[in-house]
Amino acid sequence: MKTDVVIIGAGPAGLMLGHLLHQAGIGIVILERKSAAHVLSRIRAGVLEQVTVDLIDQLGLGDRMHKEGLPHDGFFLADGARLIHINMTELAGHNVMIYGQTEVTRDLMDACDARGVDVIYEAEDVSLHDVNSDTPSVTYRKNGVEHRLNARFIAGCDGFHGPSRQVIPASVGKAYERVYPFGWLGILADVPPCHEELIYANHANGFALASMRSKTRARYYIQVPLTERVEDWPDDRLWDELALRLGPETAEHMTRGPALEKSIAPLRSFVFEPMRYGSLFLAGDSAHIVPPTGAKGLNLASSDVAYLSKALIQFFKKGLSEGIDTYSQTALARVWKSERFSWTLTTLMHRFPNEGEFGRRVQIAELDYIAGSRAAQTTIAENYIGLPL
Ligand code: APR
Ligand code: PHB
Repeated sequence: MKTDVVIIGAGPAGLMLGHLLHQAGIGIVILERKSAAHVLSRIRAGVLEQVTVDLIDQLGLGDRMHKEGLPHDGFFLADGARLIHINMTELAGHNVMIYGQTEVTRDLMDACDARGVDVIYEAEDVSLHDVNSDTPSVTYRKNGVEHRLNARFIAGCDGFHGPSRQVIPASVGKAYERVYPFGWLGILADVPPCHEELIYANHANGFALASMRSKTRARYYIQVPLTERVEDWPDDRLWDELALRLGPETAEHMTRGPALEKSIAPLRSFVFEPMRYGSLFLAGDSAHIVPPTGAKGLNLASSDVAYLSKALIQFFKKGLSEGIDTYSQTALARVWKSERFSWTLTTLMHRFPNEGEFGRRVQIAELDYIAGSRAAQTTIAENYIGLPL
């Protein structure tokens, strides 16, 4: 089979890119290792920057997002004693949309059949060939039958554990990584959120986050050592710790309930350069990972896809290569700024085992400074809503 672009991965990056290229009349095939149900079963974050909202609107797939999503003008930082409001709309001129990544993925997925976007689920042993040529191809097995897809380009949207990044030679590629000495224990529960906006708390015991999926479904996290297991945290123990870390003012408004989902995720900062090798482009988690503190994971996938789709459309429709030739440099400029913000907020809001009491006092002093500085709040606000493309 032959097509213009083979996209590996049907997560948010692959599906958004597939829809945008298909909408422009470019031939695409998306190859996904898992089933559609498995992709939708993944619990992910839920804060959309305007760049993500705009892409979904550009595709005409924003009806449910605008109906069910929650526009938020601000969020809170807490130091265990007080709440510091960061008013994004007032300070940086824009809000964010609270709408689960699972719902974004569902909206993109549900539109594929109606629009003729070709997604092959449960594609096994996806392998990339001749990526450093103008005639790359991808082989895969489906229901025991081997297939080969010849294409002009391959988009590696296959996430952190996918094969695309691996085919870039060690002499060409370089990875930058920071692994954090803790994880996030998350709980999803059908209870009303404790506050109308998100609360990020740095308590002596560690970080906590009060978030939500809707007005009736809350999402909470606490920082835990990497040695912890989910079974160490029965619901009651987790609710008690959340109440403690979020502070008494917030705890009064917390509603407890049984966990619909409870899991521990590790935190890492990771960037792979370059994001292009020959006819292969990387987009989304295949090229970078951020700690979830800044809610940047999905939104970086969106900005990569915004740049890459524009570059590929320019190539196929106008025969111009400037966009694809500058894609890696352009995407990485925004990736690194989001990596910096995510690392900064993670460093400010978490207890680091080796930092001791001095590190904690420096964090409290920084939160105290932020509480009294419009300039400091503005810096946080403009990074949280997402820097311009
Ligand atoms: N063959 C085909 N598909 C694959 C392969 C493979 N060998 N390996 C991985 N995949 C698929 C995965 O099953 C997954 O559905 O690639 C997809 C990658 O999707 P994501 O991991 O969601 O990454 P991305 O689309 O870049 O979205 C980034 O998702 O993980 C979160 O925090 C992250 O919010 C961010 C967003
Ligand atoms: C979430 O709701 O899952 C969420 C929100 C904000 C974050 C991380 C996760 O920074």
